[in-house]
Amino acid sequence: MKKHGRVVIVANRTPAAKSAGGLASGLLDALRRERSLWFGWNGELREDDGNCVQLFSCDRLTVAAIPLSPEAHNRYYNGFANGVLWPAFHHRLDLMRFSDDDYTGYLEVNRHMAAQLRPLLQDDDLIWVHDYHLLPFAGMCRRQGIRQRMGFFLHIPFPVPSVAQAIPRIDELLDEMCAYDLLGFQTEDDRKAFVNLCRERRPQIRVPNTGGYPIGVDPLALQAEAEAEPVVQLWPRDRSIRGIISVDRLDYTKGLPERFKAYALLLEQHPELHGTMQLVQIAPPSRTDVPAYVDLHHELTGLAGEILGKYGDLEWQPLVYVERQLDRPVLMPLYRQARVGLVTPLRDGMNLVAKEFVAAQDPADPGVLVLSRFAGAACQLDGALLVNPHDPGEMAQAMLQALSMPHAERVARYRRMWAVLCASDIEGWRVRYLKDLEALAATEETLAPATAG
Ligand code: ADP
Ligand code: F6P
Repeated sequence: MKKHGRVVIVANRTPAAKSAGGLASGLLDALRRERSLWFGWNGELREDDGNCVQLFSCDRLTVAAIPLSPEAHNRYYNGFANGVLWPAFHHRLDLMRFSDDDYTGYLEVNRHMAAQLRPLLQDDDLIWVHDYHLLPFAGMCRRQGIRQRMGFFLHIPFPVPSVAQAIPRIDELLDEMCAYDLLGFQTEDDRKAFVNLCRERRPQIRVPNTGGYPIGVDPLALQAEAEAEPVVQLWPRDRSIRGIISVDRLDYTKGLPERFKAYALLLEQHPELHGTMQLVQIAPPSRTDVPAYVDLHHELTGLAGEILGKYGDLEWQPLVYVERQLDRPVLMPLYRQARVGLVTPLRDGMNLVAKEFVAAQDPADPGVLVLSRFAGAACQLDGALLVNPHDPGEMAQAMLQALSMPHAERVARYRRMWAVLCASDIEGWRVRYLKDLEALAATEETLAPATAG
């Protein structure tokens, strides 16, 4: 029987500040049904006058949101979280830009959020903190006297020790992370990488419980949304044009230039396909104050222009490139219209788009998923055509195979993946994590050591 009171979610964004991203779409669906509190940033950049917690309700969920000052947000979010942790955790040390000011700002926002949350808490709350913005949150809470059981889930990959050791202040961050009672990761590889790093760097510290909890989707709900009459009909219903769809935040981890180059290779090698297929790439802008994201936008529009200039004509556009966020009722039927879902990140914690694409397919006539083997989802979706996103020839070959796959094979692959989606759905993820967190005794040893902050 349930022993805890509310589930308290702490995340950088609340549903009030939703962007296209796995965390918000994954958690909101799962937690509206639970008596719960969701605490985080409200999306506003202004000075906090000390009395800024805004409260509102969303079904059984109460949202408590605070603003952040522009400087604090810049250092914490653009500077350290997305200028250091995001690239490094995705093995892009070349894009890491560290500064002491940003790191201090990151710690300061974590400390501030802990202080703002404290008066909202009840004794029997179970606190569940999300993602790399909040690695040191538990340490900050413990030092402020917050004793409730507290777990953490990392939505992105955890880097292997040889890469992680290059992150400035990683030892302090590990100490802070070890103040959580339970650390959850998307895959077993991520979990092992964390434990191995702690063993190497912090042999004296007690590592809390860890587990692999691959996040899922709600396949039946997505299927129902995908079955609805399409708001937009992208391709002729007679399949005279075979659609390939890609949907990603405009992020350098998603492998977009590599994908465009692979598609250009397919066009070059197979002129007989001209006029018969079309790639639609939907990529909402993301983190536009971080220089690497601006560079990516320029690179992609350049590549898209090259493809259109070289292969497009008046009757046929080989590529449609849209930098927009779409509503889910628009997006789900688009997945279903496509013959191929192309999901080829260079590295990704899970990648919910891959699961959404499968959930949206017509069981009687499903499309084919082409999936990077470096997405967490590749550990589960064995019915996909797995590719190395760094190899344009292999990707072009997989697209060709997907476009011409016989019906029986498409159905067999889809059924395997559908079974996985159902066996590992978002509700199971939430319940399993919270059950494990609740089962742990919060012991004195889990309290934070006196390091950063
Ligand atoms: P990440 O969390 O890195 O953005 P995921 O693939 O795990 O990657 O999650 C992305 C989520 O954002 C999915 O739920 C997807 O449907 C949504 N999303 C991505 N791009 C768009 C878009 N253009 N319009 C609407 N939703 C989008
Ligand atoms: O999945 C990683 C993540 O950072 C999520 O926490 C977030 O929902 C998503 O990417 C979008 O990123 P941002 O909140 O920076 O727009």
